[in-house]
Amino acid sequence: EGVTSMSLKVNGTVRTLQAEPRVSLLDALRENLDLTGTKKGCDHGQCGACTVLVDGRRVNSCLTLAIMNQGKEITTIEGLAKGEELHPMQAAFIKHDGFQCGYCTPGQIMSGVACVREGHATTDDQTREWMSGNLCRCGAYPNIVAAVREVAG
Ligand code: FES
Repeated sequence: EGVTSMSLKVNGTVRTLQAEPRVSLLDALRENLDLTGTKKGCDHGQCGACTVLVDGRRVNSCLTLAIMNQGKEITTIEGLAKGEELHPMQAAFIKHDGFQCGYCTPGQIMSGVACVREGHATTDDQTREWMSGNLCRCGAYPNIVAAVREVAG
């Protein structure tokens, strides 16, 4: 009861799912589409663990309803690599040890991709500011900034 059909275009593929209209994009990705790379930290827009790209812009997927994202291009961490070839941001996080426990990493990487694409990584300070919505309880911030800055070139 109350369940409706919706379709989401995720990582280039249109997928249909049945969910209540109140379901967040985060829960739809994780629970309906089994895309568990996107993490749930706070579920209240405060940690950035759930960051995905929607039409190229970063979005906290816990704060938007799945049903409102129909017809948009959604990209999750699972959609970044091309086959065996890591996205440059993924490779840079490995090179610079941009994580410890790894829980925040998918969100950090998605935010980093948007940061570079939108030209917000021209200095360390600017990068830190832009990435400040992505919390890392391990405190890997210096290495995260180094990774993003390397990709920015
Ligand atoms: Fe969405 Fe924390 S889970 S911001």
